[in-house]
Amino acid sequence: MDTSTILVTGGTGYIGSHTCILLLEAGHDVIVVDNLRNSDVAVIDRIETICGRRPLFIEGDVRDTPLLEDILSNHPVTAVIHFAGLKAVGESVSIPLDYYSTNVGGSISLLTAMQNSGVHTLVFSSSCTVYGDPASVPIREDFPRSATNPYGASKLMIEDILSGLHTSEPGWQIARLRYFNPVGAHESGLIGEDPIGTPNNLMPYLTQATAGLRGELNVFGSDYETPDGTGVRDYIHVADLANGHVAALDYLEKQPGMVTVNLGTGNGVSVLEVIRTFEAVNQCKVPYRIVDRRPGDIARCWADTRLANDLLGWKALHSLEDMCRDSWRWQQSQQG
Ligand code: NAD
Ligand code: UFG
Repeated sequence: MDTSTILVTGGTGYIGSHTCILLLEAGHDVIVVDNLRNSDVAVIDRIETICGRRPLFIEGDVRDTPLLEDILSNHPVTAVIHFAGLKAVGESVSIPLDYYSTNVGGSISLLTAMQNSGVHTLVFSSSCTVYGDPASVPIREDFPRSATNPYGASKLMIEDILSGLHTSEPGWQIARLRYFNPVGAHESGLIGEDPIGTPNNLMPYLTQATAGLRGELNVFGSDYETPDGTGVRDYIHVADLANGHVAALDYLEKQPGMVTVNLGTGNGVSVLEVIRTFEAVNQCKVPYRIVDRRPGDIARCWADTRLANDLLGWKALHSLEDMCRDSWRWQQSQQG
């Protein structure tokens, strides 16, 4: 891909920061807009330490349309990767307006600024949550969509807004990427996921419990219709996910249009398999106990990855062992 200037919203966050590294390493200039609601500006220094180049950081809110227009008119931005948003399912039930305002309002604000500035290439962070409880696995992109909480509903709405925009203005180049379960961290141990408060997701809770920072890991349910009874997910290393964004940008440069693509490994892994692999790779003991199912959880979820392979020429390369090793390295580096 030709090198250019990419605007990354939410670029100090977990997935955004890993993507910034790959973009900078590929020779692009990167501008990050983030309001630091769920990240730390120190990430910018760490990105520079890792790849020897620094993104331009602008602290700001994606709902601030004039700010975005200002950025887009003062820099030769050719494409936008839109990560900024709120992502906790439980929290979205407690503060739905915040979720709709940030995720849906923020996306409309960004699209308006892009339209007014003549920038028409966008990669958007969607989620496998849009598939709800799938009738079968692996999940294909043409499966029915549904939402049971405001977070999922916000992703559905944004997907629909993008498709409506593309129908009315076919000159837009849009990739809607549906991530499965991102885990892992940069192999340097310098950046990773740093959730505020008690983690809801499996891997950050597991690493914190193993480090002695939390009580035992609750394994939510052992009576699902899965090989060992625990929930099965498609865990994907964040570095592979980041690489999928570079592949999507590359694709859009050659093939105008709108694409919707799963980013997963195509492998379903149970909670107990994650625990066993983590213990084997890191030579440690994960403290855990089996408890009741968590309300709202589904039994099985993994991706059909053929479209990503065929269209983007992309596939996940990291193993579950890599994910466990890098997650643990990141956890340990945070404790100094
Ligand atoms: P993250 O919270 O680490 O990153 C999101 C970033 O957006 C944060 O740095 C936050 O400060 C910023 N932000 C929030 N509101 C903002 C606003 N109004 N203006 C500007 N910046 C704002 O989350 P992540 O895991 O990196 O997720 C990135 C995207 O991927 C999100 O849209 C999320 O919904 C989506 N996604 C994440 C997962 C996952 O499990 N991590 C799965 C599927 C989809
Ligand atoms: N789990 C536990 N104990 C925990 C946390 C999780 O046993 O402390 C289990 C869950 O029951 C599930 C698996 O580990 O079987 C993965 O759970 P996560 O919370 O890590 O991930 P989910 O698949 O539940 O949720 C993720 C994202 C959501 C998104 C959803 C869409 O976090 O944002 O995928 O499928 F909506």
